[in-house]
This record gives sequence, C-alpha cells and structure tokens, in this order.
Amino acid sequence: MKKKIFSGVQPTGNLHLGNYLGAIKNFVKLNNDDQNNCVFCVVDLHAITVSQDPKKLRNNIRETVATFIASGIDPKKSIIFNQSQVSAHSEAAWILSCIARMGWLNRMTQFKEKAGKDKEKASIGLYSYPVLMAADILLYDSTHVPVGDDQKQHLELCRDIAQKFNNDFGVKDFFKVPEPLIQKEFSRIMSLKDGSKKMSKSDLSDLSRINLTDEKDEIINKIKKAKTDPMPMPSNIEELEKRFEAKNLIGIYASLSGQPLEKTVKEFAGKNFSEFKENLSQVIVDKIIPISVEIKKLLNEKDYLDNILLDGCKKANNIASNKIKKIHEIVGF
Ligand code: TYM
Repeated sequence: MKKKIFSGVQPTGNLHLGNYLGAIKNFVKLNNDDQNNCVFCVVDLHAITVSQDPKKLRNNIRETVATFIASGIDPKKSIIFNQSQVSAHSEAAWILSCIARMGWLNRMTQFKEKAGKDKEKASIGLYSYPVLMAADILLYDSTHVPVGDDQKQHLELCRDIAQKFNNDFGVKDFFKVPEPLIQKEFSRIMSLKDGSKKMSKSDLSDLSRINLTDEKDEIINKIKKAKTDPMPMPSNIEELEKRFEAKNLIGIYASLSGQPLEKTVKEFAGKNFSEFKENLSQVIVDKIIPISVEIKKLLNEKDYLDNILLDGCKKANNIASNKIKKIHEIVGF
C-alpha cells in the first residue's frame, strides 16, 4: 500500500528558510519516493483568515507553486493545486466544524499567538482555521502529513476530529487517522534576530528571515547581522541548550550541509562567530540561490504555473468530490 502524503503551505508571501527546512525539503524527499502518492496544496482559503490584497494574493499563489517546483517537487508525480478551486474543502470544513468542540479549539496556541491581545478583533476564520486544515487532510485519506513543529497541535486536533466523526456516526475507519511527519531535528527554525521566536513570514523585520527569493548580498548581510552572543562558538551539544541563537545558526548549517549536528559543533568549536558566519552564508547561498533564480524564472511563465494548478485541481477534485459525497450520505443529507 502506497503512503498518502498531504501537506499545505499558505500563499502569504515571504516563503523562507524555515518553510524550506521544516517542510518543503521534506516534501521533495517524499515526492521522490515511489512508495508515496503526494498531494501538495497551496492553501489560499487559509491565507484570507488575515486580510490580503487580492492582487498580491494572486501573485503569491503562483509564487508558492513556483517555490514547490524550484525546490524539486515534480508536478507529474505529485498533485499540486490551490484549495479554493476544490469546493469540497470549504464544505467539509463546515461539516467538521460541527464535530470539533469549542474546548478543543480554545487550546490552540497558534491562534492565541496570531490573535495577540485583541482576540475580539480576530476573524472567526483565524479561530476555526485548524478545522479547515483537518478537512484538507481528511478528504484525501492522507496517511502521513509532513509539517514543521509549529503545526503539531493542529495535527493532533485533526486526529481527534477524525476519531470523533468515525465514532459519532459509527463509521469505523471512514476517516483515516493521519500520522504527523515532523523531523526530529531542524523542525523549528528560529528568527535571526531572536532565537526564542520562530522564523516567520509575518515578522515585520525582513532581517529576521532568509527569504527563498533573496539575492546573494541580502543573504550575506542578514547572516552578518544575525544575533549571536559574546562567547566563542559552543564546544559541545549540551551548551547549545542555553544558547538559542548559536543553536539555531548551527542547526541551519547542519541541516543544509546534511551533516550531523554533533559534527558541525565539533568543526566550529571555540572559533569566532564571524568565521562561522562566513561558512554559514556560503552553504545558504549554495542551496538557496539556485532555488531563488528558478523561482524568478518560473514567475515569468505564468501559463505554465497556471496549467500546473489547473491539472492539479482536476485530480484533487476527483478525489475530494468523491469523499464529500460519502460524507453527505453518512451525515444524512
Ligand atoms: P505555513 O504556511 O505557516 O507553513 C508551511 C510549512 O512550513 C512550516 N514552517 C516552519 N518549519 C520550521 N521552522 C519554521 N520557522 C517554520 N515556519 C513554518 C510549517 O510547519 C508548515 O509545515 N496550517 C498550515 C498550512 C496547512 C496545512 C494543511 C499543512 C493548511 N492545511 C494540511 C498540512 C496539512 C500553515 O499555516 O503552514
């Protein structure tokens, strides 16, 4: 039995090194394994939970597809589509929102972070967004969901929703209960300006992240300015636990160069940060610049990108409309 892989990325612009190392790099690996059927979704319905400029949103949808392709996902092997074009997602989200409990959603830490102090002004969509995410996953009978560490709680919620639906309607195994695929290491890349905060698309400071469309000079400058501490480079792994910024930068180096963390720590132990940063810039430039160049090239091929989405939407729609029909029958519509 092939594994059914599903994941999504929001087209909110500024896709960054955290998205790449935490998720997209893993998508590529899964896409390349013939044991998997992969579906990668540009989750534009999720994007509008905070307000979006329609013109920018349209560009960001294409840029997300371009990023998938430039990173190495093969649209002939994997289904790539945008969520808004397969109406079963919105429909299933409504039905599942009648299954999910307020108490479950009230525990979601990402809503608390994103809504900030003024929760009353957050959209209802932002609050119920994990239910839409569950709909995405469950419509495709997904067995495995590759994500970064920040999505772990949402996946647990998805599992709870699947189980409650199956129990409530007495339809054992109708929804597959999916397994999260979260890498043991490097599944949470932190801000370059604050090692205790996640690298994020929405951080106001562009210096906090390496965007996948950055130029070489920007990468070098951002790494030069990245926050460190006044001590020399750590000499063992235990030391990393108290030194967030050093841990993050060494983790990025290890992940990109494909060498174990321990070996990376040893290689730079006791050296100055400035010397390490030169090496780090180099590995980032070597990996990210070819992707960045390819994204920019693909963005000039709008028809190519739109056709990938069109083709993906047809395939996704076949699967999802079949599942939603069965959901209708079970619910009694
Ligand atoms: P999104 O668009 O915020 O992020 C896309 C993917 O990137 C990962 N990620 C990170 N990984 C490591 N370090 C970071 N600093 C970092 N920032 C982001 C995320 O964990 C994610 O895997 N709700 C999801 C999108 C979604 C989805 C789905 C995912 C919608 N439906 C169904 C899986 C299955 C989101 O907002 O991801």
